[in-house]
Amino acid sequence: MENFELIKQGAEARIFKGLYLGKPTLIKQRFEKKYRYPDLDEHLTKERIKAESRAIVRCKNVGIETPALYLIDLKKRCLYMEYFEHSITAKEFIMEASNEFIEKLSYDIGATLAKMHENNIIHGDLTTSNILIVNQFGEKCFFKDYSKLKLVLIDFGLAHIDNSAEDKGVDLYVLERAIISIHDNPEKIFGLILKAYRKNTNGHNNVIAKLDEVRLRGRKRLVVG
Ligand SMILES: Nc1ncnc2c1ncn2[C@@H]1O[C@H](COP(=O)(O)OP(=O)(O)O)[C@@H](O)[C@H]1O
Ligand SMILES: [Mg+2]
Repeated sequence: MENFELIKQGAEARIFKGLYLGKPTLIKQRFEKKYRYPDLDEHLTKERIKAESRAIVRCKNVGIETPALYLIDLKKRCLYMEYFEHSITAKEFIMEASNEFIEKLSYDIGATLAKMHENNIIHGDLTTSNILIVNQFGEKCFFKDYSKLKLVLIDFGLAHIDNSAEDKGVDLYVLERAIISIHDNPEKIFGLILKAYRKNTNGHNNVIAKLDEVRLRGRKRLVVG
């Protein structure tokens, strides 16, 4: 990991960027949590790394954009993957983009999540920070030509495979809560996401029904405290 520079320090992992086999590469290193028993900690960390790599590969196989996976180093708790030099998170994008672009993005997020759920991939931590907007032409330009952009899903450490409407509904609920807590006009953004989600899933309205159920549970929890 010489030549790699630390670019982010999260709650669970450090993010480094550098060159690996000549390619721009991001290393996500999950660190030890001192408050956990060491054996449990090691087990959980390895499970997260495995979950993340599995989901990345599974998404790729069904045509959902994810970073290419370069190396899994369980011993060092590292995942090496493609680094998108010219990217911003959907969170940053929404803060700056025009209404027109925000609407297009919301629609694309809904369609992408529909595809992901149709393939029974549950992300587990959907937020606008875990969606990257990438300029496909390698230009550092995001707000001029929407057709040059693509959407890349990241941060699959809590992902799993499940065909239940419940898990899919919870996935959507987590995203809705994240959008409400961060963005202006969340009803509009999430409304468009759901519209595209509905349109792109066949007869899976039971997921939306589950979402309503989960929302109700969430509200009750808030009231009860
Ligand atoms: N493949 C990538 N290319 C470019 N930037 C990335 C990539 N993966 C992650 N990032 C950036 O690093 C941040 C943290 O990565 P993430 O996988 O979400 O880890 P964390 O668990 O710390 O949230 C992302 O929000 C994004 O800004
Ligand atoms: Mg993240």
